Amino acid sequence: EEGSLAVGDELVFSPSNKTARVQSIEAWSTIPGKEQPTEAFAGESIGITLDEQIFVERGELASHVEHAPIETDVFRARIFWLGHEPMVKGKSYRIKLGTMEAPVTVQSIESIIDTSDLSNTSSHQVERNQVAEIVLRSRRMLALDEFEKAPKSGRFVLIDKYDIAGGGIISMEGYANQRDLITSRSTNITRVAHGVTTEARAFKNGHKGGVLWFTGLSGAGKSTVAVALEKKLFEKGYNVFVLDGDNVRHGLNANLSFSPEDRAENIRRVGEVAALFARAGMIAITSFISPYRSDRDRARQASDGGDFHEIFVKADVATCEARDPKGLYKKARSGEIKDFTGISAPYEEPDSAELTIDTSALSVDESVETLVNYVEMKFKV
Ligand code: ADX
Repeated sequence: EEGSLAVGDELVFSPSNKTARVQSIEAWSTIPGKEQPTEAFAGESIGITLDEQIFVERGELASHVEHAPIETDVFRARIFWLGHEPMVKGKSYRIKLGTMEAPVTVQSIESIIDTSDLSNTSSHQVERNQVAEIVLRSRRMLALDEFEKAPKSGRFVLIDKYDIAGGGIISMEGYANQRDLITSRSTNITRVAHGVTTEARAFKNGHKGGVLWFTGLSGAGKSTVAVALEKKLFEKGYNVFVLDGDNVRHGLNANLSFSPEDRAENIRRVGEVAALFARAGMIAITSFISPYRSDRDRARQASDGGDFHEIFVKADVATCEARDPKGLYKKARSGEIKDFTGISAPYEEPDSAELTIDTSALSVDESVETLVNYVEMKFKV
């Protein structure tokens, strides 16, 4: 589709991330006796053999290792809708991108663009012949590109039942390339079994270990509630510790910015650390915006079936902006801070949090009380 390919090149197949080298290029030639090509260019019809037998699913994208496509389970798209039925938020469709096909769900409809005057409106559905900006989510990782960088792998069609219902182009604005997060594990390492069992730790402490994963906008009250809860639980005899974004970003994660990729890495590390705290028998309360669902899901997976509770500390942007305890919303509005969550960077609300604490309705004490009751119910042995 793009560029060139030569014998000996290392290829990666995305999203399985398997690699192999090109052993030969096979081409049909009308000139008898013409040597096999050692190079091929975009637009040519060729076959290749690899130096290793690898299993690659239909629909994977082959590329040079240095120019691999994006891997993500969420992306933005600008679409043109042709469906007989309107596109609806929350509904699933099939995406076709190159030879790949997968189910995707409409996570949000950000705006409908009026093609006559380019004005924006918001709606929960996109009618036939409308243009819209949407966010699509897939259950599994997809390999794709941004349309602006690689048009052929940055555009797709959407299928509703059996009909082509729309077409679109991809943008990753505000969303992370998750390629590096699919942790490539080192080889030659073996897990060491602990001499102390999880049950023995819980018995000694009088409670299980686990994670209370707070998520919400900056200013929603995560840290305030987290430290107040930590104090209350400590007084009640719990082994508890708060991991807070602003604190962890001074040490362990001091090398991370607020780009989508770095936020994702921030949450990946904290997810692992919280899981270690939990395994050590403690209750880890994490207080991070953690704006992306995929990252929070990965943090849950890091806990590996252990007690992981997603707590949505809920307050809308207007409420947080009115509070603005650190003066950051003001700076974000004036453009002094870019990529600020809720203003110029996305926040994906949890759709199945174990508990929601609405801080626009509850006081700090009420929030803490709700959480203490929750912890006593879930963690006591
Ligand atoms: S996260 O998005 O990666 O989960 P984290 O919780 O660690 O964020 O850090 C958020 C804190 O960093 C905020 O409470 C705020 O004090 C500060 N901050 C600085 N820049 C930004 C930004 N661009 N967006 C959000 N928070 C920011």
